[in-house]
Amino acid sequence: MTAQAATSLGVELGVLAADVDDSAAGATRGIVVGSTESREELEAFAAGRDVVTFDHELVPREHLLALEDAGHVLRPGADALRHGQDKGHQRRRLDELGLPVPAHRLAHGVEDVEAVAAEHGWPVVLKATRGGYDGRGVWVISDAGAGRAVLERAGAEGVELLAEEHVDLVRELAVLVARRPGGEAVTYPAIETVQRAGVLRELVVPARTGVGLAAEARELALQIAEEIDAVGILAVELFETGAGLLVNELALRPHNSGHFSIEGAVCSQFENHVRAVLDLPLGETAPTAPVAVTVNILGAGAEPARGLGDALAVPGAHVHLYGKAHRPGRKLGHVTVLGREVEEARGRAHRAAAALSGATIGAAA
Ligand SMILES: Nc1ncnc2c1ncn2[C@@H]1O[C@H](COP(=O)(O)OP(=O)(O)OP(=O)(O)O)[C@@H](O)[C@H]1O
Ligand SMILES: [Mg+2]
Repeated sequence: MTAQAATSLGVELGVLAADVDDSAAGATRGIVVGSTESREELEAFAAGRDVVTFDHELVPREHLLALEDAGHVLRPGADALRHGQDKGHQRRRLDELGLPVPAHRLAHGVEDVEAVAAEHGWPVVLKATRGGYDGRGVWVISDAGAGRAVLERAGAEGVELLAEEHVDLVRELAVLVARRPGGEAVTYPAIETVQRAGVLRELVVPARTGVGLAAEARELALQIAEEIDAVGILAVELFETGAGLLVNELALRPHNSGHFSIEGAVCSQFENHVRAVLDLPLGETAPTAPVAVTVNILGAGAEPARGLGDALAVPGAHVHLYGKAHRPGRKLGHVTVLGREVEEARGRAHRAAAALSGATIGAAA
C-alpha cells in the first residue's frame, strides 16, 4: 500500500523483501531479495538511495546504527525506531516523560509477577519486550504457577518479559501522527480499534468516545512524536479506561489502524508516510465521510479471491487484498466502508469481509 502511494507520486521505491513473491511485488517492480538480518545486504540495499524507511520493527538495532554511521539517511532514525522495537525501552521513556502507561516492571522472576498482582490484582499481563505482534508475545496470567511457566519458556528462548497490570478497558484507541524531519506534524482523527484474541479485527472512525478524550488522545500522540523525534507515520495505541488514557504501544510505520485512511481521509497514511520521510508537505488528514469502518480479512476457509464477486456486490465496499498466501488466521486484506451511520457501515464491511474470508456471508456481522 505504501508502494501504491509512492507510485502515484512518481517516487521510486525499493523494497527489501524475503522473497520475490512478497506481497509488495504486486505493487512495485522495486523488490530486492535479501534479509534484514544481514548487515551486508542492508548496506547494499541502502547504497545510492536518498532515504531508507521501514514497514516493520525487525531490523536489528546494531544494523540500524551501522547504517547511520555509514551516512545513510534513516527516517525514522535508529533511536526513534527503538521505541517501536523494545517495549521495555518504550515504557521507560514514557515514564521519564511523565506520560500515562499501565503499571509495569521487568519480569526477572515470578516475584515480579506477584508484586504486580499484589498491587493491582490478578490477572497480570506478561509480554515479550521484543518481536511480538498480533498478540503473539502477550500472555494473560491468572496465577503465579502460570507466570512461572511463561517465564521458564521465555528464559529458555532468551526473551525478556514485562509484567504489567491487566487494564480494565472501556475501549482501545489509536492515533496516527505524520511528522516531517523538521517537526511539522499532523494527526488523523482518533480511531477505535477492536481486537479479538490479540488480533486487530475492526476499526471505527471517528472513535465512539468523548470529544474531549479524542482531542486529548491526539495531543498526547503529537507530544510523543515530538519527544521521540518520530519521522513518517507514528501510531500510538491507547487504552481508554474509566480514569483516562494509557499508552499501550508505539509503532513507527504505517499501521493497521490507519488502513481506513485510504478512502476515509483526504490523504492516506501511506501517502503521508512517503511525503513525511521525503520531507515533502504533508497531506490533509480530514475525514472524507462522517463514518469509516474497516474490517480485516483473516484467512478462514477458501482463498479470498473466490469471494470477490460476493464482496464487490456489497454497496460501498472497498476491497484490499494483499496477495499473501492463504493461512488460517493470517491478515490477508481488509474492507473499508464509508457512511453516515456506524451500524450500517459495519454491517456492510463485515458482509464483504466474511465473503473474502471464505466464511458464509453474514456470519461475522
Ligand atoms: N496490560 C494490558 N491490559 C489489558 N489488555 C492488554 C494489555 N496489554 C495488551 N492487552 C491486549 O492485548 C492486545 C495486544 O497487545 P500489544 O499491543 O501489547 O501486543 P502486540 O502483539 O505487540 O500487538 P500488535 O499486533 O499491535 O503489535 C492489546 O491490543 C490489548 O487488547
Ligand atoms: Mg498492539
